[in-house]
Amino acid sequence: MRMYDLIMKKRGGAALSNEEIEFMISEYTKGGIPDYQMSAMMMAVYFQGMNETETAALTMAMAKSGDMLELSAIDGVKVDKHSTGGVGDKTSIALAPMVAACGVKIAKMSGRGLGHTGGTIDKLESFKGFSTGITSEHFISQVNNIGISIMGQTLDIAPADKKLYALRDVTATVDNMSLIASSIMSKKLASGADAIVLDVKTGSGAFMKKEEDAFALAKEMTALGKHAGRNTIAVVSDMDQPLGFAVGNALEVKEAIETLQGKGPEDFTKLCLTLGAYMIVAGGKAKDKEEAEAMLRKVIENGTALKKLAEFVEAQGGDSAAVYDTSLLPTASIVEEIISEKEGYVNRIICDEIGICSLILGGGRETKESEIDLSVGLILYKKVGDYVKAGESLATIHANDKSKLEAAKQRFLSAYTITNESVSPSELIKGIVT
Ligand code: URA
Repeated sequence: MRMYDLIMKKRGGAALSNEEIEFMISEYTKGGIPDYQMSAMMMAVYFQGMNETETAALTMAMAKSGDMLELSAIDGVKVDKHSTGGVGDKTSIALAPMVAACGVKIAKMSGRGLGHTGGTIDKLESFKGFSTGITSEHFISQVNNIGISIMGQTLDIAPADKKLYALRDVTATVDNMSLIASSIMSKKLASGADAIVLDVKTGSGAFMKKEEDAFALAKEMTALGKHAGRNTIAVVSDMDQPLGFAVGNALEVKEAIETLQGKGPEDFTKLCLTLGAYMIVAGGKAKDKEEAEAMLRKVIENGTALKKLAEFVEAQGGDSAAVYDTSLLPTASIVEEIISEKEGYVNRIICDEIGICSLILGGGRETKESEIDLSVGLILYKKVGDYVKAGESLATIHANDKSKLEAAKQRFLSAYTITNESVSPSELIKGIVT
């Protein structure tokens, strides 16, 4: 088989066979196919697309290109959750202990953030001493003992995707539905869970700006999960404005803790209840979504979800005292209000701009090597549809550097559109794809 012939075939619009896809991915992973040929292939795929069979073959080939986590040593159904990423998305930190407190095993692999959306691992490191750099033995025994563990990418999960994603990133071939779906699902399938609940975001702060694209991606990913024999459900949710009020690592952890205490923002709480309910049903602990949601509300009310977070933090070397006293989380030295000069209704918030404010403050990574400042970020007071008076505060900004604070403040103000007409925020849950 020659890569040249495969590029010609795809360029002409024909479908690649499973064998051809397996050859291409295994050779590329080993370094037997140069980046320039793979770039040409990615561009051919970008224009000609891939059918369902090809996408499934690509997903499986990438999933098998490295370590496949074997979770059979954990009893019961293991459920994973994945978000396509967004601003203020601290969901896993509240959701994982909530679901684990309801008896569903959470064995999750997470990543660090790059760009304006922070990663779960970065956020969790707000707990002093917390480590996700654990072995798979530690991971498995912790899930068996306390029902929950989140591990960093210590294994070589889907190395073909890692290489290919970096290549797509610099050759303008990221935004193809088959390539995105196979990239995400290859990592999820290699991570070993029996059931996967996907949170596919849509809106100005999401990868998929248009709702129809988010639904198409959700359909493609659920089909790939099913094809691999994993129960897969996708929730399409709004990311046209930040989720909750907090944006920034430690600030988001604090908000997740407040949510576990029953004092969380309405939108964030609703998203956790929705995703959590599907996870519990998939985990076989409730017969339907209503029963599962009642279980989740109960573990918030009786404090077991919060206790589960503390157990989880402690099991991974973190200081669980911060779960009960959030003043122990990292704090910034400068806290200032952002005052609105205008009066009216918040009509629009350019969501990814708010993420960029946090990045400017030092809360995100410009490059993979960047150190991040866990203490900085923003707490929003006004979201879409809210009325704001001139002189009223739109947000507080938490910073450690005055010039970064000024830059972020200007950017923040230009992300808000305030008008005389009232508007309603868009629906949080756009739909479910099963
Ligand atoms: N996230 C991924 O992991 N892969 C993509 O291709 C796009 C987003």
